[in-house]
Amino acid sequence: MREKEYLFNNANKIDEILVKHGMNRSRIVAIMQDIQNEFGYLPEKNLKYISMKLQTPLSQIYSIATFYRAFSLKPRGKHLVTVCLGTACHVRGGARIVESIQKMFDVKPGEKTKDGLLSLETVNCLGACALGPVVVVDGKYHGHITISRLERIVKGILNENKK
Ligand code: FES
Repeated sequence: MREKEYLFNNANKIDEILVKHGMNRSRIVAIMQDIQNEFGYLPEKNLKYISMKLQTPLSQIYSIATFYRAFSLKPRGKHLVTVCLGTACHVRGGARIVESIQKMFDVKPGEKTKDGLLSLETVNCLGACALGPVVVVDGKYHGHITISRLERIVKGILNENKK
């Protein structure tokens, strides 16, 4: 889709979000959260659009987008599995968990499955080290996770989509 066509189709939604936040530059993170919720990620064209509308440098918007793990610059799958690979989780099997999810669902870290249902991501610490290994599935923390328990959780959410 060409840029002008894209903006024509999506500008109303973005304008709605901007108006909801009073076109206020200090609400930029909340504005970006709403865009992320709307599209499942932060499309580059939308970032350029809010940069123009809020007269905020695009570089600043990108640094916010890359600072917060909740934001994604690439389309994510419908469901998100985030595996912690920080030291505490790594020594308790974090890497094996990533490997198994990768094999079980044919998805690499940073990517989504072919059917677009599942994204796999890794992080360096989720701030819950005592519960390691920790995995977050669709925003819900699962501590002391085992491969078999995680497989059940992920298969459960994927089966929900088939109903
Ligand atoms: S290292 Fe995994 S939560 Fe801190």
